[in-house]
Amino acid sequence: MKLPPDARFPTICIHAGQMPDAATGAIITPIYQTSTYVQEELGKHKGFEYARTQNPTRAALEANLAAIEGGVAAYAFASGMAAIDAITTMLEAGDHVVVTDNTYGGTFRLFDKVLTRYKLEFSYVDTSRPELIEQAMRPNTKMLFVETPTNPVLRLTDIARTADIARARGARLVVDNTFASPVVQRPIALGADLVIHSTTKYLNGHSDSVGGVVIATRPEDAAWLQFIQNAAGAILSPFDSWLVLRGTKTLTVRMAQHNANGMALAEFLSTHPKVRHVIYPGLPSHPQHALAKRQMHGFGGMLSFDVGSFEAARDVCNRVRLMSLAESLGGVETLISHPATMTHASVPAERRQAIGLTDSLVRISAGIEDPADLIDDLRQALA
Ligand SMILES: Cc1ncc(COP(=O)(O)O)c(C=O)c1O
Repeated sequence: MKLPPDARFPTICIHAGQMPDAATGAIITPIYQTSTYVQEELGKHKGFEYARTQNPTRAALEANLAAIEGGVAAYAFASGMAAIDAITTMLEAGDHVVVTDNTYGGTFRLFDKVLTRYKLEFSYVDTSRPELIEQAMRPNTKMLFVETPTNPVLRLTDIARTADIARARGARLVVDNTFASPVVQRPIALGADLVIHSTTKYLNGHSDSVGGVVIATRPEDAAWLQFIQNAAGAILSPFDSWLVLRGTKTLTVRMAQHNANGMALAEFLSTHPKVRHVIYPGLPSHPQHALAKRQMHGFGGMLSFDVGSFEAARDVCNRVRLMSLAESLGGVETLISHPATMTHASVPAERRQAIGLTDSLVRISAGIEDPADLIDDLRQALA
C-alpha cells in the first residue's frame, strides 16, 4: 500500500501511517504489547529501546493523526487532559494565556487549580468576540487556548481571525478540536499552531478508550512534545492506540451520520412545543450560523436545548429509553446529559449563568443510530 501524495481526506484517515506488518504482512498494525525490545548487540537496535519512549502501535497512530489534522507530527497521551497538560509545559513561569471562558471544566480545573501554582497566568475570555481577545492580550501572552464549539452552549470562535491575533503578538494558537472532530473542522488549515483532541470522543468513537493527542505544526514544538512525552511519561497504551487507529478508519462515515443526526434532532426539537430554544450551529437561529457555515464542514453531533425548568430537564433525561443518560460524547450511541448537575457541576453557578448554561438546559451527543428512532425516543420523553 502506498498512499498517493494527493490522497483525499477519507483515504488519509484509513491509510496514513499504516503499513502491513513487516514480520507477517498483517494489514492491521499489531498491538505491540511489550515494555522493552531486545537489542542485537551493544548500541545496535531496530530503533526501539524502551516502550515509554517508542512503541510501533502508538507511532502508527501518531503518524495517522498528524496526517488527518495536517500537522508535522502528533504525540498521543494517556487522556485528553494529559495532552493539554503536555502543551502547557511549553510555557514558563510568568507567561500569560488567554483561554475561552466556556472551556471544558477539566481544562479550567487544570489551569486554575494546578498551573497557577507555577506562576502561569490565565485570562478567561469570550473568544467568540475577537475584540475581547485583543483587549486581553498582554506583553507576556504566549498562548491562546481556544475551544470551538464550546460545551454545552456551542459558542463558536473564528479560528482564522484568532490565528491572526496570535501571530501579530507572537503567541501560539492552540485549538481543542474535540467537539468538532477533524472531519468537521481543520484548525491548522485556518492558522492554528497546535491542535489537541480528547481521542476518547469522536476519534476513537466507540466509547471504549480514554486518550488524548497533540498535533504540532512547528518542528521545534514537535521536538519538545516528544521530549515531554518521554520525560513526563503520560503515554497512550498500545491497546488504546490500536483502538483509536481502528476508530479513525471509519471517522468520515461516522461523522457524516453524527452530522445528519445532529441536524435531524435539532430540527425536530426546534418545532416541539415544550422546547423553548435549541442551540445547534447548523440552525439558522444560531447566532453564529454564518461563521459555522464558513469554518465547519457539517455541524457536528452535539446539540443543547432548553425545556424551561430544571424539573422538565430532569424528566426528559429520566424518561429517554434508547438514549443513555451519561457524560462524555462522540460515541456511536446517543447520550443525553444535564450539564448543570453533571459535566459542569463544578463550574460556579454565576459562571454558568454568565455563559447561558441554565438549569433547564439538556445536552445531546447524537450517535449514529437511525434518526427516526432517536426522534421517537425524544417525542415520548417530552410527552
Ligand atoms: C473539549 C474537551 N477537551 C478535553 C477533554 C478531556 O479529555 P479526557 O476526558 O480524555 O481527559 C474533554 C473531556 O470531556 C473535552 O470535552
